[in-house]
Amino acid sequence: MTRPQPLPGPAPVIGVPEPVVVLGMDAAGRPLPPPALAALAGAGLVVGAARHLAAVPVPAGVDTVTLGALAPAVTRLAAAHAAGVPAVVLASGDPGLFGVVRRLRAAALPVRVLPAVSSVAAAFARAGLDWDGAVVVTAHGRELGPALNACRALPAVAVLTAPDAGAAEIGAGLAGWSRRLLVAEHLGTPAERVTWVSPEQAAGRRWADPHVLLSLAGAADDAGATPTGPGGAVGPVRDDNQPAAAPAAGWALPESAYRHRDSMITKAEVRALAVARLRPRLGRLVWDVGAGSGSVGIECALLGAAVIAVERDPTAPVAGNAARHGVDVRVVTGDAPAVLAGLPDPDAVFVGGGGTDVLTAVADRRPDRVVVTLAALDRVAPAVHLLRAAGYTVTGSQLAAARLADLPGGSVRLAATNPVVVLTGERP
Ligand SMILES: C[S@@+](CC[C@H](N)C(=O)[O-])C[C@H]1O[C@@H](n2cnc3c(N)ncnc32)[C@H](O)[C@@H]1O
Repeated sequence: MTRPQPLPGPAPVIGVPEPVVVLGMDAAGRPLPPPALAALAGAGLVVGAARHLAAVPVPAGVDTVTLGALAPAVTRLAAAHAAGVPAVVLASGDPGLFGVVRRLRAAALPVRVLPAVSSVAAAFARAGLDWDGAVVVTAHGRELGPALNACRALPAVAVLTAPDAGAAEIGAGLAGWSRRLLVAEHLGTPAERVTWVSPEQAAGRRWADPHVLLSLAGAADDAGATPTGPGGAVGPVRDDNQPAAAPAAGWALPESAYRHRDSMITKAEVRALAVARLRPRLGRLVWDVGAGSGSVGIECALLGAAVIAVERDPTAPVAGNAARHGVDVRVVTGDAPAVLAGLPDPDAVFVGGGGTDVLTAVADRRPDRVVVTLAALDRVAPAVHLLRAAGYTVTGSQLAAARLADLPGGSVRLAATNPVVVLTGERP
């Protein structure tokens, strides 16, 4: 018989109850290390999902709690801890990554965590891909929208899933975006299955729980969605690797930062206000309707949002501008409002082009924010009334920027740009 080995971490203090030991179950398939086995051998209470309890040597006669609901288990753990009974919680992968550690800390329980390889790390390893630029999000126990929008916005995203918020639902939501997906089921167990699929293929299948999903930029190839790209890399990960932080080059960029025609571009001063009012960030979906150069949508994407640019002119330079700024903006070519019907519901909409019919169709989709720029004064009052009738609180201002311009002889003057009214509709 092997002697139990001491746990890593500080030595126990006499009279102070031992912390709850949280053991990660390895998603790469490695067995429990000796310190984990020692913790189990000395446990008086073991808590875990049925599949985890079945996979480890729980000593005969030890109390167990099978998860399910975490709240009653936390109550049992707190009682055991107070009574000085050594307790162990079994969790998947790294329990500090969207795992049980948060709940135990919230219950004021001291923990000693013995992490294992996370499902995210194991999935990227199975794919043979680097993942230092990837973002990890979860759809476990919360709304699917933010995780889905992270997949739409960013080139490399790992999603922790739940039974009704997994690869099928995310695949359906990614229709229209160029993505290849890796679905990794039951990692590290004999039932492990790792499958490359297109979003459409993912949507048409049922997937086992648990599974983790990798969403990578670039279309699946015809032979069934095997990974492509230089060196098998995950795709054009942004240089600053900070999708939800301020973009390195800033925003409200000068018009010269975008290719545009006939001055069909929202001016920098107006764009600064419009983008701020849209509240773009990772997890939100923004429509840029009447995109023109795409500058407003592109700056929302630089700030982490998923973006759909709607533009009737197929030669408009949106896609090229987005590529130049290193963001993934989905361009939908067609006439609003008709073309809006097939798009996923937005969180915020910028209406830079289109009449009352477009604004009506946008308000019908109930985004929490609508920002409209208007040069024609006769359109201001109808737009305000329409948004108010749809339940929005409306604020507005007229912006008239005058820019510095050089005069001969080294002097400067002010050169007026056209005044624009910016309306913001917010749902209370
Ligand atoms: C509450 S999160 C815990 C994540 C965990 N802390 C980790 O590092 O893997 C639960 C989700 O992790 C993923 N997951 C955990 N274990 C897995 C496994 N063996 N195979 C595939 N996915 C797994 C699934 O997406 C599951 O719904």
